Amino acid sequence: MRRAVCPGSFDPITNGHLDIISRASKLYDEVYVAVMINKSKQGLFGIDERIDLIRQVTADFGNVQVEAFHGLLVDFCKQRDIPAIVKGLRAVSDFDYELQMAQMNNGLSGVETLFVPTNPTYSFLSSSLVKEVATWGGDVSHLLPDVVTEALLRRLREK
Ligand code: PNS
Repeated sequence: MRRAVCPGSFDPITNGHLDIISRASKLYDEVYVAVMINKSKQGLFGIDERIDLIRQVTADFGNVQVEAFHGLLVDFCKQRDIPAIVKGLRAVSDFDYELQMAQMNNGLSGVETLFVPTNPTYSFLSSSLVKEVATWGGDVSHLLPDVVTEALLRRLREK
């Protein structure tokens, strides 16, 4: 069984994330989406809400599991016998930090990181930018799955 993990904050999941998860799900038998909990970062969505949205938009892939994790990504991998981390690379600017994390994770536990070049349609896309644009009334519906756009607009109306 070939397993991989796609880790992130997913606050919320975007079409860019979904593209990487979808491509990973074709390369591996089982893909875990790990929603990494960072207690020092207050998200717009709670962890359970993020998981629920990811489950809805990945349900059709058939081999994707979604879990939250508090701790080191390498421990998530060790506990589930996952040898590979799959990450999207949007631009050269992502590379420095991603390389550091990949080398640190490999040094800690031998886990490999596979970089997938982001679809150019999403090369500028991030959850933070989507939230900022939506906060000021910009249309982000082409950048998010429909269910996520609805949840985001609902959340912003509540605030
Ligand atoms: O979506 P993000 O916020 O860019 O994802 C970053 C994330 C969550 C993948 C990264 O911060 C991470 O792996 N955090 C888990 C804690 C950990 O293992 N830290 C050491 C990384 S070398």
